[in-house]
Amino acid sequence: MTTDPRIPRHVAIVMDGNGRWARRRGQPRNFGHRAGQKAVREAVEFCLRRKIETLTLFAFSSENWKRPSDEVGALMDLFLRALDKEVDELHSNEVRVRFIGGLSVFNEALRTRMLSAMEKTRGNSALDLNVCVNYGGRWDIAQAARQAVEAVQRGELDPRSLDETTLAPFMCLADQPPVDLLIRTGGEHRISNFLLWQIAYAELYFTDTLWPDVDQDELARALENYARRERRFGRTDAQIAKAS
Ligand code: IPE
Ligand code: IPE
Ligand code: MG
Repeated sequence: MTTDPRIPRHVAIVMDGNGRWARRRGQPRNFGHRAGQKAVREAVEFCLRRKIETLTLFAFSSENWKRPSDEVGALMDLFLRALDKEVDELHSNEVRVRFIGGLSVFNEALRTRMLSAMEKTRGNSALDLNVCVNYGGRWDIAQAARQAVEAVQRGELDPRSLDETTLAPFMCLADQPPVDLLIRTGGEHRISNFLLWQIAYAELYFTDTLWPDVDQDELARALENYARRERRFGRTDAQIAKAS
């Protein structure tokens, strides 16, 4: 853990651009998804080296089911194989892996592997790695609201006390530091229903680099840029200068 405010504690990434990366090479989109796996390894390694506490990756959105079924099928195969291949290495690097999203829709084989990866790595503390699959920011807010209603029904929560502080513990990632830096690769300037609640005060960084081309240098540039930002959280720059 680092206490240097110029280093983000929590980095989230929209890993975008696999399809275009493949097309530029005259290859099918799935070729790009496979190549993207290497960039995931680079990002994990980078965070371990820089002692970043939490890395949250957007791997498959609740909207990505709309893609052609052969692409969705190939992505599921890729997740399955990646889980078989990468979990031991992540575990030996003391990475704690969590899958975030509606996991019940995945097939038995994938679900079993996701649960066993989470179970196996739960005691690790070098890096928290959240992989968002079948995740949507609106889904997250809705599931938090549902849990809050259930707590009201059990008599554990007074509905009159429902506010952002009492709803927050039901959101995904509530037990982790707030997202400091959100990176989106691939040139689009949008959130695409990734974390909504959790990025309320995140710094946003966009790069045209396509996800499979992302390496440690690219991530270092994002961190250098972050280090130069002044985070004011509603205050004035004079107040910030006085506090530091
Ligand atoms: C991101 O790359 C990976 C997933 C959404 C699963 P894309 O597949 O969206 O790549 P582009 O945006 O079409 O280039
Ligand atoms: C966002 O990328 C989802 C992931 C990276 C998993 P998309 O490529 O699906 O986003 P849109 O559809 O271009 O907004
Ligand atoms: Mg895309």
